[in-house]
Amino acid sequence: MSTAIILRGVTKIFDVPHERQTSLKAAILSFRKPPIQKLIGLDDVSLTINQGESVAIIGRNGSGKSTLLRVISRVYRQTEGSVEVNGRLSTMLDLGAGIEPELTGRENIFFNGAVMGLTSAQIKSKLERIIDFSELNDFVDAHAKTYSNGMLLRLGFSIAIETDPDILLVDEVIAVGDAAFQQKCYRRITDFRNSGRTIVFVTHDLDAARLVASRAIWLDRGRVQEDGNVGGVIESYLSTTTKEEG
Ligand SMILES: Nc1ncnc2c1ncn2[C@@H]1O[C@H](COP(=O)(O)OP(=O)(O)OP(=O)(O)O)[C@@H](O)[C@H]1O
Ligand SMILES: [Mg+2]
Repeated sequence: MSTAIILRGVTKIFDVPHERQTSLKAAILSFRKPPIQKLIGLDDVSLTINQGESVAIIGRNGSGKSTLLRVISRVYRQTEGSVEVNGRLSTMLDLGAGIEPELTGRENIFFNGAVMGLTSAQIKSKLERIIDFSELNDFVDAHAKTYSNGMLLRLGFSIAIETDPDILLVDEVIAVGDAAFQQKCYRRITDFRNSGRTIVFVTHDLDAARLVASRAIWLDRGRVQEDGNVGGVIESYLSTTTKEEG
């Protein structure tokens, strides 16, 4: 089985200028730059994801899930370690990421397809599928700045999945879709995986994770806390969160 994604000892540290409350005099007399606070996004993460796997990334807020997807997609450069990706990547990391507000939905499909390196003939051949999947109907010819969150999801997800990537990365955004569209996304993700492609998605919807993923990776404070069969990892995650609350 060939590998889609390999991370070796990946650490991501964010340097954030820390504005300390000081008196005006102290601020004026200060020769020093504001102190830098180091925030750990990922802490020595090593993992291998094989082609055809469907992996849910779970963990509490601030545990490093989005940072992980951003390092894999090279939006962020890791501070240490190495990242290897084999295949064409398609991402949906934020609602409206890559969507140009002044362009229509249809124009955005061409724009994003071109950014992904598709020729205009290739995009034309996929256009109907993308529009059909999005169910945007007449809105596909309205400016994207007029779209609701769910409509941005519909456009972005349809482009991401219908442009035939080898690997799809999705961060949480499916949650803003209505019930019918969420189900449709998860069904499409299952087909995608069944056709041998790889999907890594972040979710707080553990039922969806159980349904769609075969494997889960639980992150805590930037570290892999547990990695394995989706049911077992979710069980461990839930047992610690309930302990902490109680
Ligand atoms: N651009 C950034 N600048 C500074 N710190 C960041 C940045 N992005 C993330 N961090 C920090 O990295 C850590 C992990 O954040 P991340 O966004 O990856 O968490 P998450 O697991 O996606 O959380 P959530 O469930 O809330 O989306 C947090 O401490 C966060 O403050
Ligand atoms: Mg996040």
